[in-house]
Amino acid sequence: MSDGGRTRPRRPGATDPGVLTDTLRRPLHDLRISVTDRCNFRCTYCMPKEVFGRGFEFLARSEILSFEEITRLARIFVAHGVRKLRITGGEPLVRQDVEQLIAMLAGIEGLEDLTVTTNGSLLKRKARALKQAGLQRITVSLDSLDNEVFKSMNDVDFPVERVLEGIEAAEEAGLSPVKVNMVVKRGVNDHTVLEMARRFRERGQILRFIEYMDVGNANGWRLDDVVPAGEIIARINAEMPLEPADPNYRGEVARRYRYKDGSGEIGVIASVTQPFCGDCTRARLSADGRLYTCLFAAKGHDLRALLRGGKTDEQIAQSLRSLWGRRDDRYSELRSSATPDLPRVEMSRIGG
Ligand SMILES: C[S@@+](CC[C@H](N)C(=O)[O-])C[C@H]1O[C@@H](n2cnc3c(N)ncnc32)[C@H](O)[C@@H]1O
Ligand code: SF4
Repeated sequence: MSDGGRTRPRRPGATDPGVLTDTLRRPLHDLRISVTDRCNFRCTYCMPKEVFGRGFEFLARSEILSFEEITRLARIFVAHGVRKLRITGGEPLVRQDVEQLIAMLAGIEGLEDLTVTTNGSLLKRKARALKQAGLQRITVSLDSLDNEVFKSMNDVDFPVERVLEGIEAAEEAGLSPVKVNMVVKRGVNDHTVLEMARRFRERGQILRFIEYMDVGNANGWRLDDVVPAGEIIARINAEMPLEPADPNYRGEVARRYRYKDGSGEIGVIASVTQPFCGDCTRARLSADGRLYTCLFAAKGHDLRALLRGGKTDEQIAQSLRSLWGRRDDRYSELRSSATPDLPRVEMSRIGG
């Protein structure tokens, strides 16, 4: 595109002509790819044992997209404006040879950011291979430094220490800065917020607090369990003064805050108390190849049927343009007392 003779760097999320936008003029910028619906944790807010117990039927191998299928779709998305890919799950590192997929995705021209969200349990073993495959950064979920609290949340007796070892291994491998996600649930781990902030500030790692969300229908969510982001910020600010920082790009879900003494930053993901649908530039692909245009959607669009039905790249691209062009989701902004009973996809299916 001509720019009066000057070359202008592409601003992520900028709505210039040629960029795919939805009915609310939101561009397609991020894609989250779930590579498995399985997980070795049973976090009570995500995969509670009562629902995801022995009898639960996970996807069969044949139902899950192959690495080639994922890469083919990712290329089409990147050609339509996606600049950031996040690999997630379930637990992405339990998918066999996931580093091979990373290497395939890292080779896609035009992609600017490739990252993984993991519970960290297998990271000590995998960090170096992931880096060598071309992974740039990593986000590790850790809900508390208190072993009893953490074990009660992951519900498989997994100790804090091993996640911390995973984080160290990621830093050593050069997957930095490591980001750490903490889901905050009132009366469960909110008393450990300050301890978490202190630790990760000292190490220059970016801690992000996530409001406990009403995703899926399995976790028995109640508004009373949510600790509003404003309250978390106030608690930290009282001990370690903070100031707001600008977003890195349009559609960034975490609101950033800097420590006033220059010792780093934190983020809050306040999808319950401060919904950000208006700027949501994110699509989600489930492990079985369904495209969800909202985290709170009930139904995905079956891209696997297109892949396996012999459609060409151009035909799949056409479907993507039509799906994104029709998109009008803004669940969090419309959330009301009537919504908790609606069917919704589980977080472990589409990776948060
Ligand atoms: C679904 S997990 C998938 C990746 C990986 N297993 C992990 O835990 O990082 C992605 C993120 O979603 C968060 N999450 C899951 N259920 C949630 C809920 N009900 N509310 C808020 N965040 C949630 C997790 O804490 C994690 O940071
Ligand atoms: S949050 Fe991640 S680690 Fe916890 S159960 Fe869900 S997918 Fe597994």
